[in-house]
Amino acid sequence: MSKDKLLTLLEENKGQILSGIDLSTKLGISRNAVWKSINALRKDGHDITSIRNRGYLLESQSDHLSENEIRMHLSADSDQYNIIILDETSSTNTYMKEHKDLPENTVVIAKTQTKGRGRMGKSFLSEDQGGIYLSLLKIESLPAYNTDLVTLAAALAVSDTLDVYSGTETAIKWVNDVYAKGLKLSGILTEGTIEFETGTLSSLIIGIGINVNNEIFPPVLQHIATSMYQITGKKFVRSEIIGQLLSRLESYLLLTKKDPKELVLQYRKKMLYLNEEISFKRGSEVFSGTLLDLNEKGHLIIETDGKKMTLNSGEISIRKREI
Ligand code: BTN
Repeated sequence: MSKDKLLTLLEENKGQILSGIDLSTKLGISRNAVWKSINALRKDGHDITSIRNRGYLLESQSDHLSENEIRMHLSADSDQYNIIILDETSSTNTYMKEHKDLPENTVVIAKTQTKGRGRMGKSFLSEDQGGIYLSLLKIESLPAYNTDLVTLAAALAVSDTLDVYSGTETAIKWVNDVYAKGLKLSGILTEGTIEFETGTLSSLIIGIGINVNNEIFPPVLQHIATSMYQITGKKFVRSEIIGQLLSRLESYLLLTKKDPKELVLQYRKKMLYLNEEISFKRGSEVFSGTLLDLNEKGHLIIETDGKKMTLNSGEISIRKREI
């Protein structure tokens, strides 16, 4: 379709003027057809400026989720990803589970989710069109990873990527939340499917939600959540962030097996509340203690009433103890 080809040309030359004549020659269509396609792309939400007697330009900050633009920002082999962009779905993790024949390295990205899910049955606000809501599927490559450390790897990939764009150091709240300035910027939900016969893990879905261009949160979240926009006052091109994020994620996933010690070391450096008092719930009981360390398996070591204990359950979340 000439509209898609035109978009590819504009994306490959983002921020540069392309003349109507050049575009019509390259696409083999009339200048009038170019103009019609430009208008159709604008209707789709692309920020395209016409410059009199010179041509058209896709603004550098045009933020429209696009497969081509994501691929342009992937440093890892871009062909390995099967990218699906949806206008709306209940949850990209659920979509992945419901479409069982999707291949390894499928990335499902939704512009909005109606039932975004977080850990421990919590919801993740995803109605805002400015966020990133994506899931990555791993099947055949699972033996290359230490699956116990996958959530840690994803948190590191998110945190490193957001550090670059936010110009501030983000931190990780064990095990899956990325924070900036004391507020939550991103959450990760990793889910697996188990082979019934053998009891082994047959696939893994890594779900990542990031508040990017969100301008405002509902009152209940205003003291809990933040976005890249709120931190920096700037809007970001999400396709670029996604490309960078996927590339980093791949390297960290490989590190889980190649050098788990190094992965844990890097995670520990970014971890919140080290040597501080925290509280956590196990079942209905609330415990408190000092967060001493993170072990090689990515489990927390806590000291409570003079005794050391290890927290490894995915069903625990920690918080700083208010004294
Ligand atoms: C959490 O905060 O506990 C984790 C939030 C994870 C949200 C992401 S958004 C993409 C994927 N789809 C979901 O429903 N959840 C994850």
